[in-house]
Amino acid sequence: MIQYKRHLVTAALPYANGPLHVGHLCGAYLPADIYVRFQRLMGKDIVFICGSDEHGAAITMRALKEKKTPSEIINTYHQLFQKTFQGIGISFDYYHRTSDPLHHQTSQEFFLNLYHKGAFREIESEQFYDLKSNQFLADRYIIGTCPKCGNENAYGDQCENCGSSLNPTDLINPKSVISGETPEKRKTTHWYLPLDEYESWIKDFIVNGTLDGQEHHDPDQWKNHVLGQCKSWIEGGLQARAMTRDLDWGVDVPKEIPGSAGKKLYVWMDAPIGYISSTQQWALDNQKDWESYWKDPESELIHFIGKDNIVFHCIIFPAILKVHGGYNLPSNVPANQFMNLEGNKISTSRNWAVWVHEFLEELPGLEDSLRYYLIKNMPEQKDSEFTWKGFQDAHNNELVNNLSNFIHRVLSLTHKYYKGVVPDFDPDEIIEGVAGDELGGFHDAELIYLFDLIQEVNQHIREYDFRSALKALMDICTAGNQLLQNNEPWKIQKSQPETVEVVMNLALHYVAALSMTMQPFLPFTAIKLRKMLNLPDLTASGELEDMLTKIAEGEFIIDAGHKIEAAQYLFTRLDDELIQKQIDKLHNSENQSKQTNSETNMESKHLPLKETISYDDFAKVDVRTAKIIAAEKVAKADKLLKLEIDLGFEKRTVVSGIAEYYKPEEIIGRQVVFLANLAPRKLKGIDSNGMILMAEDADGRLTFISAKEDWYLGSVVK
Ligand code: MF3
Ligand code: ZN
Repeated sequence: MIQYKRHLVTAALPYANGPLHVGHLCGAYLPADIYVRFQRLMGKDIVFICGSDEHGAAITMRALKEKKTPSEIINTYHQLFQKTFQGIGISFDYYHRTSDPLHHQTSQEFFLNLYHKGAFREIESEQFYDLKSNQFLADRYIIGTCPKCGNENAYGDQCENCGSSLNPTDLINPKSVISGETPEKRKTTHWYLPLDEYESWIKDFIVNGTLDGQEHHDPDQWKNHVLGQCKSWIEGGLQARAMTRDLDWGVDVPKEIPGSAGKKLYVWMDAPIGYISSTQQWALDNQKDWESYWKDPESELIHFIGKDNIVFHCIIFPAILKVHGGYNLPSNVPANQFMNLEGNKISTSRNWAVWVHEFLEELPGLEDSLRYYLIKNMPEQKDSEFTWKGFQDAHNNELVNNLSNFIHRVLSLTHKYYKGVVPDFDPDEIIEGVAGDELGGFHDAELIYLFDLIQEVNQHIREYDFRSALKALMDICTAGNQLLQNNEPWKIQKSQPETVEVVMNLALHYVAALSMTMQPFLPFTAIKLRKMLNLPDLTASGELEDMLTKIAEGEFIIDAGHKIEAAQYLFTRLDDELIQKQIDKLHNSENQSKQTNSETNMESKHLPLKETISYDDFAKVDVRTAKIIAAEKVAKADKLLKLEIDLGFEKRTVVSGIAEYYKPEEIIGRQVVFLANLAPRKLKGIDSNGMILMAEDADGRLTFISAKEDWYLGSVVK
């Protein structure tokens, strides 16, 4: 195995066009997080990079459907992503975004570098143009009849009915999604990356793991399905691929290039460069040198992704890096397959998903249970399945019955026998029977066994085999439990106190080892357990490595005489009711989305109307136009902002639950519609006098409503 000095780990930049579901999580983010947390504990120099992917048709389609601007879409989801990743414990060193000017600059520099090298081939082709909206149409913006199966709603790049991949010009009776009109064909020129010219080195790189005639990595360590997909791509013959598009949302093709007007970088050109710009921003913020992570041959590059991203990370991005020159290519791309949900494919448009942000809200405290279940069912080699019942069983049978009960037992016995103090023992004491002849020898032998068990977890992580690693982690609990069962300290506590001392000392060693070994998988539980053991918090800078050294040298990893805290259960049983609620919710939300999709052909839902009221009822309400003149966060309240409102004739203070959607600085000066005669109430100790009226969708997202022109403050709205 090649030894690297530094490691750079990336996880696929998620499209900021919809929330994260469990499939995303166990596809790329969770495996990457386990790997990185482990390497940090081993004292490795490792950086974990991600960010939001904010360009491409994925974003503009969503904006079109929701009648919003792309910026509104990406801001909403970028914020939601950051919160969600943090909530589920994905420990990025940096989370950036591709709308950031630094990213635009870095990707333009890349593009220009390739351009000046003469790497691109300029090719003219005919593409569909929408005369009514004055723009070229991306593949997804054209629908028509599939020439293969007759489906009338096939997209320009793919028919979702028969699965064939298409070109827009294949469609019968093509129509623009934007205007509904028949588009016309127009000539346009783009810059193509001539992958056909690179076929031979790409093949060497993938098949033999060699680059420029030198060994680069061991292809045997790559997953079979990853190699398989790459090889079949290569065998199909590599073709030149356009690296630009005619779009108005994205990174501009650099102005220096003739013919650049109106052209943007193809999203798969700019997004992977997002890994670089994210590293640059991390380095700027932390006084580090980004280049050593990307360019020093002693640095390793690993991409964690889902299987739909394989060719981009194994072939296209490496080609871009190689043509640019000076950059490392990935030593591994441990892609995962997909996770299905309760027998069906996860689907955003049908709302058939477990959304991570909703899980965090509805099932607080179960973050590690979700991580555990997703790791246990990680689609590492083939597609896997999430079921709520499976989630419940894993939690109850494994986390409660095995892990939590073992730890609780050891800690409560320690309190019972030794008032919470780790017992010492006499190594020379000779005991007949169960424990062998000499306590010292018994203790040593057990620690060697424990050492091997920990190393087994570690080895699986190094091989990106996280399911096996998790199983090996639970084997440590099982072995600890065995130790107690074999020696039954509760039976011999009076008759053989010396044996019980050594058994309990060892059991506490198992628990102490677990508090560290579990951290990459169950970080929230590790924190709790370290507290219970009264051991220092992990700073993830080599503690696991130190612990292994200690064990190997026969030293204690939890000292005799050390006092622990009270025993608590780390996990308690999940009852059927709670699980059933989630199952019902899944089916209900799918039905709802079916209805609204067929009614409006849009992905937005609506709330039912309230009962009818009289005009007199309505006339009691005093609504005015107003303006926000000051805004600040409310301490200890994530959702609240304190606002100063100008009604023209007087000023008001209100507390408003919009902090998730708006930053204070971006709403000052904003016109609003204001309910002026609402009885005052106190929120977080602040007198709130009135209410800003907002539009709310069925998902609870909020937006301001205001007069179209700059209107007089204090005007009556009726
Ligand atoms: N946004 C893409 C997706 O969700 C992944 C981009 S990965 C990157 O499929 F390499 F482009 F960053
Ligand atoms: Zn078809």
